[in-house]
Amino acid sequence: MPERFADQVVLVTGAVQGIGRAVAERVASEGARVALLDLPGSPVSGVAAGIDATGDRARPYEVDVTDAKAFGSCVADVAGAWGRIDGLVNNAGVNGPSAPVEDYPEDEFDRVIAVNLKAVWLGTRAVFPHLKRAGGAIVNLASTAGMAGYPGRAPYSATKHAVIGLTKATAVEGAPFDVRVNCVCPSGVETPMMLDAERAAGADRTRVREAFLASKPLGRYARPAEIAALIAFLLSPEAGYITGAPYLIDGGQIARP
Ligand SMILES: NC(=O)c1ccc[n+]([C@@H]2O[C@H](COP(=O)([O-])OP(=O)(O)OC[C@H]3O[C@@H](n4cnc5c(N)ncnc54)[C@H](O)[C@@H]3O)[C@@H](O)[C@H]2O)c1
Repeated sequence: MPERFADQVVLVTGAVQGIGRAVAERVASEGARVALLDLPGSPVSGVAAGIDATGDRARPYEVDVTDAKAFGSCVADVAGAWGRIDGLVNNAGVNGPSAPVEDYPEDEFDRVIAVNLKAVWLGTRAVFPHLKRAGGAIVNLASTAGMAGYPGRAPYSATKHAVIGLTKATAVEGAPFDVRVNCVCPSGVETPMMLDAERAAGADRTRVREAFLASKPLGRYARPAEIAALIAFLLSPEAGYITGAPYLIDGGQIARP
């Protein structure tokens, strides 16, 4: 595989599993040095060691991305250790419970906003000064829930719409410095988040899965590696003229009449 990220430093949040892990593994396989961020107490060290046991090319950080100070210190540490930052993937996210809008628990609403939206801004804020020095790229995780309203998931849907707006505004601010900012909008990726959402349906689990798969013309969930391939492209110089763009990767779901 050609080394599109040789000498580059990329941070990935939520890197222990699912899409984030697939992104970290993908960009590392193409030459990047990767900082993997995930919650305190998570097995992020083991995931980083699986990429590079020496620690030279993969560094784990136990950090809650909603903690502005901790996220900022982590970014400073990465820049200090490796001398540069070229990319950030704001991937960490939570589903929150599924509940009608009038019953939605306020503390859960706040948590979904904090992880899925505020932390995207916190990460962007922390890396922007580094990216502005020599150019770079950010990819944010939005969703098809950022393009349509999913009943029972108003806060999640609200954050993903907001991430698209944050992406566009940040892209315009970053453009004079050759800092590109894009987001991807997946739907139904075979990750622990998706499987947890199925499990939450309890006895209806099979029916929920079948309905979900039936909503997609391609008739299956995406593999995390397929989302990672798009994110790696958007981070890479091959995407040099792409900024401010939300990229659908949904098996044709939104295209269906
Ligand atoms: N799976 C899907 O079908 C799907 C569809 C559309 C969008 N997305 C988005 O893609 C992203 C990744 O989803 P996934 O399915 O891989 O999720 P996942 O739940 O499988 O993995 C998310 C990772 O983020 C970490 N994380 C959560 N909160 C954190 C915090 N506060 N600080 C640091 N790390 C934290 C978790 O520990 C976990 O390792 C999310 O933003 C999600 O909303 C997923």
